Amino acid sequence: MMLIDTHTHIYMEAFDEDREEVIRNAASNGVEYMVLPNVDTETTARLKSVVNEYPEKLFPAMGLHPTSVKADYKAVLEGIEQEFQERKYYAVGEIGIDLHWDKTFLKQQQEAFARQIEWSLTYDLPIIIHARKSYNEIFQVLNTFKGQNVRGIFHCFSGSYEQAKKIADMGFLMGIGGVLTFKNSKLGETVRHFDLKYFVLETDAPYLAPTPYRGKRNQPAYVRLVARKMADIFNVEIENIAKSTTNNAAKLFRLENI
Ligand code: NI
Repeated sequence: MMLIDTHTHIYMEAFDEDREEVIRNAASNGVEYMVLPNVDTETTARLKSVVNEYPEKLFPAMGLHPTSVKADYKAVLEGIEQEFQERKYYAVGEIGIDLHWDKTFLKQQQEAFARQIEWSLTYDLPIIIHARKSYNEIFQVLNTFKGQNVRGIFHCFSGSYEQAKKIADMGFLMGIGGVLTFKNSKLGETVRHFDLKYFVLETDAPYLAPTPYRGKRNQPAYVRLVARKMADIFNVEIENIAKSTTNNAAKLFRLENI
């Protein structure tokens, strides 16, 4: 059985002590490959150096996270765009709009999101979307690109049936993580109405660890727990979940030989 963690931040300091073991542990749980989205200019060097250590297993994405979008975002984006000239990236991410913490830079967040979607078209890459209390604002920006074949993932999806329907209708995928396993989560009731072709699995490690590790450091191996829960919800074998989510991810990110 092979699983892909389509969203993990194992380049962060939280893994400095035991990164090699974490990657080995992932592999022994079937999680052979991982996609690593960038956050901002502070994380870029770390991201690249970790990916360079495991080039066969780790696939980097480059972008500016919405919570890092401030008044100076234009200059920051110029620097980040340079990265696409320097090496291969598999996606633009993570990008989007986050209105949970702070709405001060909403306009800048919308502009930075739109600008980075343009990159995805220029470089023919999928986008990894971070949406928090911002689905309507995200859909508004995406609507301005209608007909241009923007593709990607709504990472850490935990929205409503209507939002899921909209995402599926646009041809986007939903990234399902630890939230699915939480005790009072309604996500299982939502996702069961959709075909498995709309889903990929992720951890968002070190955040959002699934049950029974909720509140602890998350790690890519735990994708297996999310797959297990998906299998229960869809009433299929875990192998079916692995096969379909891995295929969906490989196709979206154009991972060859997987
Ligand atoms: Ni993330």
